[in-house]
Amino acid sequence: MTTTLTENSTAPEPAASTTLLEAKGVIMRFGGLTAVRNVDLTVGSGEIVGLIGPNGAGKTTFFNCLTGLYVPTEGQVTYKGTVLPPKPYKVTQAGISRTFQNIRLFSNMTVLENVLVGRHTRTKEGLISALLRGPGYRRAEAEARTRAMEILDFVGLAAKADRLSRNLPYGEQRKLEIARALAGDPGVLLLDEPTAGMNPQETRATQELVFAIRDQGIAVLVIEHDMRFIFSLCDRVACLVQGEKLVEGTPAVVQSDERVISAYLGTPYDGAPGSEEVAEVQAAEAAADGATSEEEDR
Ligand SMILES: Nc1ncnc2c1ncn2[C@@H]1O[C@H](COP(=O)(O)OP(=O)(O)OP(=O)(O)O)[C@@H](O)[C@H]1O
Ligand SMILES: [Mg+2]
Repeated sequence: MTTTLTENSTAPEPAASTTLLEAKGVIMRFGGLTAVRNVDLTVGSGEIVGLIGPNGAGKTTFFNCLTGLYVPTEGQVTYKGTVLPPKPYKVTQAGISRTFQNIRLFSNMTVLENVLVGRHTRTKEGLISALLRGPGYRRAEAEARTRAMEILDFVGLAAKADRLSRNLPYGEQRKLEIARALAGDPGVLLLDEPTAGMNPQETRATQELVFAIRDQGIAVLVIEHDMRFIFSLCDRVACLVQGEKLVEGTPAVVQSDERVISAYLGTPYDGAPGSEEVAEVQAAEAAADGATSEEEDR
């Protein structure tokens, strides 16, 4: 299956949201520097929540506190009401997967193998079983491959399953990171700048992918600096400035908040794409049309 959803408005009416991920009073200090200051945030079922803020605001540090990479100096993070253990693989097992701001793939492994690595927290077979390669292990391996291929199909990378990940174009490497995170069967997916370095067309495709992920029943918390992406994607947005949550609300509320404008946006967000972006999207679409009509001509 490939993603088909293109508009937020075409999504089915969400059922009443229940809180999945909840951070309460999270503080993270590094020596004398307080990177995250008493931040509360929730992510509910069916939600896409955005986290914005200037460089160095503490967004990635907060993600690290949510995913067991850092143990918060103070505060608590729960998932479905249970306090999360301070170990990344246990957090993944509990149901929270993430991608990283700087792509972290195994560059000498294939695309499929990278997704299989993300799957290992969901396979029960132990070391002995793996060494003996008995029927239980072979069955588990076959199931993991089938699921990994389904996920690659979902993100649109199935045809490249056997390529080395380092040979993928940059935008597809970011997609593969998302596929690997999805392989952990998360209830909540955390994305740290998923469109960084992408062209406008790739950014739009990523937006559609995030909507499709949400429609699969996975809640999303996403950090981005691309405001058009964030404000047209998210149900709710929180803005961090100097480690503190300045404002939280609907995109309409956050984008017009004077404090967010002066601390981060600079000028009020008007939602209109810049002329360079319009030109780039039009050129890419014209090239795609050309490719289609050439194929039809053959
Ligand atoms: N391991 C660490 N040790 C010491 N200081 C750190 C550490 N990790 C982050 N910081 C500091 O914490 C602050 C917040 O950094 P963080 O990377 O969380 O910001 P960010 O909001 O993700 O920024 P960006 O938008 O640039 O990614 C920065 O001042 C950073 O230097
Ligand atoms: Mg960051």
